[in-house]
Amino acid sequence: MRRVDVHAIRAAVGVWSFLAIGVLHAAPDIERAKELVESKCSVCHGMQGESSGEYFPRLGGQHAEYIVKQLQDFKEGRRKGEMTRFARNLSPEVMEGLGLYFSQQKIAPHPPSDPELGGVGRYLFHHGNRFSGVPACQDCHGAKGQGTPRLPRLAGQRALYIERQLRDFNKRERTNDNEVMHVVASKLTELELMALAEYISGMQ
Ligand code: HEC
Ligand code: HEC
Repeated sequence: MRRVDVHAIRAAVGVWSFLAIGVLHAAPDIERAKELVESKCSVCHGMQGESSGEYFPRLGGQHAEYIVKQLQDFKEGRRKGEMTRFARNLSPEVMEGLGLYFSQQKIAPHPPSDPELGGVGRYLFHHGNRFSGVPACQDCHGAKGQGTPRLPRLAGQRALYIERQLRDFNKRERTNDNEVMHVVASKLTELELMALAEYISGMQ
């Protein structure tokens, strides 16, 4: 009886760890990830994920789990765009390595360029717009825009990238968030959208 129990438990644990390692979390391949950052990713995202230009999102300090999810989504076509070709050949191990690498990098915030416009963004980020039904961004992305493993960190992100993502969510050109952000983005006026991008890019 005792032997059977142990066997059953071992089998159950065996199946569980196979699922956990093989499907949910592959062991991160840091070496290969670093090579790829040097040879490819850094051209657009920068060696520390600081981004090499307005057009490219910053990855430094972003949550590892969120990065892995985006790479999987690009690879499998749930999120479309020029990143697809760079994600196409990534293994789960390398994706985990890339997520870990970028999550550990520190990036400096941008100085805000238009503090008055940023002030409108600050209000919206923390309070939403109760007259039109825009929710407060901080309810999901955190009071400091720091996010969670499943919700992206926004603080310090490039203004132009924030703006483009909000437009893509609104037009349903990006839907890999189960359209949560469509509901938010579709309620924003042009002023609110630009003000949020300005404020968020200056958050530390
Ligand atoms: C030629 C430029 C270029 C290269 C090289 C590149 N990327 Fe990107 N990456 C982009 C652009 C542009 C976007 C924004 C895509 C969009 O707007 O939909 C992006 C988006 C991303 C995102 C999503 C960020 C977010 O906040 O949602 C991740 C993660 C990412 N890239 C990782 C990588 C990794 C890892 C590599 C190297 C294997 C890499 N990228 C190589 C241009 C590049
Ligand atoms: C109900 C929760 C929720 C609220 C409220 C919310 N967001 Fe989001 N946001 C999400 C989710 C979920 C994602 C995408 C996760 C994914 O792609 O896997 C996201 C993604 C984003 C992105 C893309 C980030 C990137 O790195 O690509 C931006 C920009 C963004 N949100 C801005 C905002 C702004 C601005 C507000 C307030 C006006 C806001 N969000 C309110 C849940 C929320």
